[in-house]
Amino acid sequence: MEEMSVGVVVEGSTGARPRAGDLAPRDLREWLARAEALGLVKRIAEEVDWDEEMGAITYMLSQEIDSPALLFERIRGCPPGFQALWNMVGSSRDRFALAIGEPVGLSVMELIQRCRQGFNRMIPPTEIDPGQAPVNTNHMVGDEVDVTIFPAARHWPRDGGRYIGTADAVITRDPDAGWLNVGTYRMMVHDRNHVGLYLSPGKDARLHIERYWSRGEPCEIVAVWGVEPALFITASQTFPKTMSELDFVGGMKGAPIELVKGRVGSLPYPAQAEIVMEGVIPPNSLKMEGPFGEFTGYYGRPEDLAFLVEVKAVHYRDNPILTHALMADYPANECALLYALARSARVWNDLEKLGVPGIKGVYCHPAAAGGFAMTIVSLEQRYAGHAPQALALAAQCPGGAYFSKWIIAVDDDVDPSDTNQVLWAMATRCNPVEDIDLLRQTWSTWLDPTQNPPEERPYSSKALINACMEHRYLKTFSKRTKVGRKVYERVAERWKALGFPGAPPKLRALEE
Ligand SMILES: Cc1cc2nc3c(=O)[nH]c(=O)nc-3n(C[C@H](O)[C@H](O)[C@H](O)COP(=O)(O)O)c2cc1C
Repeated sequence: MEEMSVGVVVEGSTGARPRAGDLAPRDLREWLARAEALGLVKRIAEEVDWDEEMGAITYMLSQEIDSPALLFERIRGCPPGFQALWNMVGSSRDRFALAIGEPVGLSVMELIQRCRQGFNRMIPPTEIDPGQAPVNTNHMVGDEVDVTIFPAARHWPRDGGRYIGTADAVITRDPDAGWLNVGTYRMMVHDRNHVGLYLSPGKDARLHIERYWSRGEPCEIVAVWGVEPALFITASQTFPKTMSELDFVGGMKGAPIELVKGRVGSLPYPAQAEIVMEGVIPPNSLKMEGPFGEFTGYYGRPEDLAFLVEVKAVHYRDNPILTHALMADYPANECALLYALARSARVWNDLEKLGVPGIKGVYCHPAAAGGFAMTIVSLEQRYAGHAPQALALAAQCPGGAYFSKWIIAVDDDVDPSDTNQVLWAMATRCNPVEDIDLLRQTWSTWLDPTQNPPEERPYSSKALINACMEHRYLKTFSKRTKVGRKVYERVAERWKALGFPGAPPKLRALEE
């Protein structure tokens, strides 16, 4: 893996237009205003219940692709002005584009390329004066802390409690090297000043906590509970475990994320956030947590022990917005399109940095457990063993290893984001007895319902499916039926005259 030094802006090699960093919204409110101006947000002024109702409304509305983000303005039992945002990115490419300062109307593959470029540059955070930070408008410190004033919600009927952190960003410090990690992890309210933190095996914050505890030390933690989407998107990606992930947020936005010094702890926190918590996890501090309706579309694991956080301080804006992420089957799953775009970009960048040539596209299908379970790689086969190599690396690289079960390689005449094309390739270029390999004992999570009993779940398996034309017989492999290029161009020119609306379809493969 190519090392990138902190503090240096590294330009991506993906050929996208130069970043217009000033286009990225500065905070959640600016992003909301831009999305609302385009009709991509719906405000709900009617009072709603935190107990299942916001979750149900979001699920019902999100059965359609491109459903709006939902801003609930009045929530039962919450102070006036306290709001909750659901379906922030949802299945909307345009809301994702707005988050990272890109124009609306881009295709899936164009957005993946823009993400690749963002992740390939690193812009370290800047520190601003605490007095200038909008999140420092209101404080609750020590005995004043009461997290129950915020519109935390039970998302699903069998959830074990009210969740305050789902679309969040959790910051911890590596106890050895000192770099800051940011991850998206669920947090459940226990009482006024305690929240649970669920971490799957191998997640960075979990490794940090375990290392602090092994030395008998507490682990400090910051959680952003009202988060801007660019921070949320980046926090939910897996980066090499040796780098400060906040630098990637700057890269995605094209501008540094602004931090302020911690008020009660030593970790800094995002100045432009809506709501931020500072806390500690003392050694062996665990409490029963969950279950929670998860990204798989099932309740993950039964109630079990999870980290117990003591909340030392909470800072928030006036009329704060708590951000929620509904986990569900597609397209109602908040992480599905997010991973289809950002995780695909991470895997593609990893393959490129490892030096695998000929990669023409990567796509993590959003319907496969929120983008976690399936990775499709399109490549130009250049040498014997090329496709199996790409498969094995895509399956195990940092950006793509967690949970993925189905890794599929297709030739470069197949658009990996086109399900019909991928199924066609699997049906006509894959001979199952020859072309499927299995990896065993791979990285997974207690949340995978396919493995029982639940304690077994962190060890999973992966199928590597080679749906490329057989390399040995590439020259003689049956010829695909393709429209001739000259005919295509002639017809495309006469498209309107022939009486067809719109532009002629682009074809990925033409007979030369
Ligand atoms: C909305 C959402 C919620 C998530 N919740 C959790 C969670 O509760 N626990 C967990 O371990 N990972 C969760 N993830 C996945 C992690 O955020 C993701 O694997 C990320 O890479 C973790 O950061 P890390 O690599 O720095 O550990 C969630 C992702 C999303 C998008």
